[in-house]
Amino acid sequence: MRRKLAAGNWKMNGTADSLTEVRALIAAHPAPSIDLLICPPATLLAQMADIRGPLHIGGQDCHAAASGAHTGDISAAMLVDAGASHVILGHSERRADHRETDNDVLAKADAAHRTMLTAIICIGETLAQRDAGQTLDVIGTQLAGSVPTGASAANTVIAYEPVWAIGTGKVATLDQIAEVHGFIRQAMRDRFGTEGVMMRILYGGSVKPGNAADIFGVPEVDGALVGGASLTSADFSPIITALEQA
Ligand code: PGA
Repeated sequence: MRRKLAAGNWKMNGTADSLTEVRALIAAHPAPSIDLLICPPATLLAQMADIRGPLHIGGQDCHAAASGAHTGDISAAMLVDAGASHVILGHSERRADHRETDNDVLAKADAAHRTMLTAIICIGETLAQRDAGQTLDVIGTQLAGSVPTGASAANTVIAYEPVWAIGTGKVATLDQIAEVHGFIRQAMRDRFGTEGVMMRILYGGSVKPGNAADIFGVPEVDGALVGGASLTSADFSPIITALEQA
């Protein structure tokens, strides 16, 4: 059985005031039957770790190097030091804004694994790629290029996030999600055997309280990576409940 995971990606949102939302979320889910994770901006990691309760805390990126002259960057060991157990890597916003390639993501995942962080490796097609019928080719290439040889069910989570569904309110159809998640499962099973069968695969892209239960009913969906709706307890809590009941 794969343990389900509800992960929140706060992106570049949140200051110390936002911790009231985390306190409310913890109060609503003191003993969750699934894994809960919030990835706040790095400035909030340590404060969130202090009040974490049952929450896991994660970073949103790390550098591939252990330390050195990389102004503005953050290492995997620094995330661990601040209380993180997970890190999101290769999010489409980083692939777009910072020109991160599959190879960059692979090197970052290796760095995360060296410090015992669980890497949440994000992949997903653009609308142009989907319209051109290239979705599964793109997903296959991203998986092959971004997921390192040392990946296991314990240290790696795959997040399928169609780029056109992120922050747009457009959700992939249940058939589209089922097709891609089934493809990812097959690819991970072919490459990693039992570890690939046990590796969790999250869906991300405009997951909201109103659509979460349907998405969580799709085969091979082991949870969600939630952006906008993870910022408030009022929105994230019902998504967590839907996943617990799935
Ligand atoms: P969204 O973001 O839920 O706001 O669409 C998801 C993500 O980018 O992880």
